[in-house]
Amino acid sequence: MTEPLLATQDIGVRFGDFRALSEVTLSVMSGTVHSVIGPNGAGKTTLFNVLTGRLSPSEGRVVLAGRDVTRLPAHRRVHLGMARSFQVTNIFPELTVGENLRLALQAVSGAQPWIFWRGVDPDLGRMQAVAEEVGLTARISWRAGDLSHGGQRALEIGMALAADPRIIFLDEPLAGMGIDDVHRTKELIRGLAPARTVVLIEHNMRVVLDISEQVTVLAQGRTIAEGPPALIRGDAAVREAYLGSGM
Ligand SMILES: Nc1ncnc2c1ncn2[C@@H]1O[C@H](COP(=O)(O)OP(=O)(O)O)[C@@H](O)[C@H]1O
Ligand SMILES: [Mg+2]
Repeated sequence: MTEPLLATQDIGVRFGDFRALSEVTLSVMSGTVHSVIGPNGAGKTTLFNVLTGRLSPSEGRVVLAGRDVTRLPAHRRVHLGMARSFQVTNIFPELTVGENLRLALQAVSGAQPWIFWRGVDPDLGRMQAVAEEVGLTARISWRAGDLSHGGQRALEIGMALAADPRIIFLDEPLAGMGIDDVHRTKELIRGLAPARTVVLIEHNMRVVLDISEQVTVLAQGRTIAEGPPALIRGDAAVREAYLGSGM
């Protein structure tokens, strides 16, 4: 069996007396979509923050490509090939899609702004490649604020891809979307792998079961089930955890 790209061992997080996570152990294999699902309050965002380096766990370890990154801050993990996209919108609505992507590319390449003034854009090819990867090629000159909700989410994912990450973390990318946007975003996420590894934190169980290789189910801060979608679908504990939560 090959090594996982990302692994956690017995992650615990306490906020004062409250335990948000207990003994969360998972292995994410390279080139897969690995989802973490669970009802509201299960600890998904807390785990996302631990994995991406925003939050230091009270217990346990996070290992990325064989290296212990538990105490490594978020910006240092980016250099190891991690990128993340947040629940909240991060784009500049007044700028075009292309300009948003160029800003993200500049932030990672450290290109000098004066190159812009001379009309040279070293990131143009890369910008077009990212737009293609997230399905926004036809909308490069659109004002970002005029994109649909799904289009804006695609752009945010594109901005996270600017760093050309090996592994990308998405926290509830489908939240608040209409049915068409859900479908498009789902296809986009599926298409990121196997070139990249995707850790998808999501409340929408149906979508997750459709596009993931592996699923980890959290409830009240603990892993209650783990495995391929076929196994999760029939799991009694999962059904119970989701009962009445509008899955
Ligand atoms: N900074 C914090 N301080 C105290 N409690 C928190 C904090 N962040 C999250 N929690 C609590 O931890 C639990 C898990 O939250 P969260 O990880 O956001 O769940 P999910 O994303 O699955 O909805 C919730 O009960 C939440 O109120
Ligand atoms: Mg959350």
